[in-house]
Amino acid sequence: MFQVTQLIAAPPLPDWAEDVRRGLTASPRRLPAYLLYDARGSALFEAITQLPEYYLTRTERAILRAHASTIATHSGPAASVVELGAGTATKTRVVLDAVRAIRGSVAFHPIDVSRDALDTATRALGGPGISVHPLVGRYEDALPLLDGLPGPRLVLFIGSSAGNLGPVGALRLLTRVRRSLVRGDCLVLGADLPKKPGVLLPAYDDAAGVTAAFEKNVLVRLNRELGADFEPDAFEYRATWDARASCVRMGLESLRAQTVHLPALGLTLRLARGEHVETERSYKWSTHVQQQLLARAGFKPERVFTDARGWFAVHLARVP
Ligand code: TRP
Repeated sequence: MFQVTQLIAAPPLPDWAEDVRRGLTASPRRLPAYLLYDARGSALFEAITQLPEYYLTRTERAILRAHASTIATHSGPAASVVELGAGTATKTRVVLDAVRAIRGSVAFHPIDVSRDALDTATRALGGPGISVHPLVGRYEDALPLLDGLPGPRLVLFIGSSAGNLGPVGALRLLTRVRRSLVRGDCLVLGADLPKKPGVLLPAYDDAAGVTAAFEKNVLVRLNRELGADFEPDAFEYRATWDARASCVRMGLESLRAQTVHLPALGLTLRLARGEHVETERSYKWSTHVQQQLLARAGFKPERVFTDARGWFAVHLARVP
């Protein structure tokens, strides 16, 4: 009887609630970036990738298009293609087509925290010779899957998502990916390159305010899913360039002293005026540093493709 009452009074917390508690009580405060990608967040992110200021997606797409057949040949060609943080996977089509053109068929396993984005990917990419097997989850949920897939395997980690993990997190994830692969399997890493802040910052703070809406949506999500009472209008989105760390820092600044309640976590936050809640970082490493990262994770970097302006790099690496 008691248990039933308890269940009604306190629905189970989502598995990310602890990450929220830890982040919001840390100093400086932060929120886990993967929470940005609920259904609305993923749709807003899709809009970001099409903004005039956001050069990353179209630059990487052009590089992938130019080198898809090299990537396909190099990868074996792969029987299984796994994409970490695939989203709607619109850039992946050219790679899958190139693999299919050589092998006749390929199995595509997109992994993402957003079910809606994966539904879109599955509808758009599935067809003759391409079977799509989506998995809703975080990067680490892909690791047990990798083991069992028919080889050769090709893992795609594109969209400059490695840069969002920071040097330590990126090395940790890439090392775990490499350990889940076998000799000869390949990795494609797509990552943004350092450039002047005048180009970098607008990509993360667009004139139309899509990025700001994307960021503030995380507060709306916490209100809905944790019963919090954030007032999105009492925060302002900020993106700054940290030259020392070579990263864009993104976050929400409290516009006034305010108190926020998160009853599901038993948490009351007192935010000072001007206080920041960090949501995301986007590190920009040189191709050399990116190659070092690959090598330290146990991959052999074999090729690097870039665009004419030298704005973005796509690496092809192999498990030696
Ligand atoms: N991987 C993307 C990047 O670093 C993620 C991203 C783009 C992002 N724009 C954003 C994350 C704005 C948070 C806010 O470019």
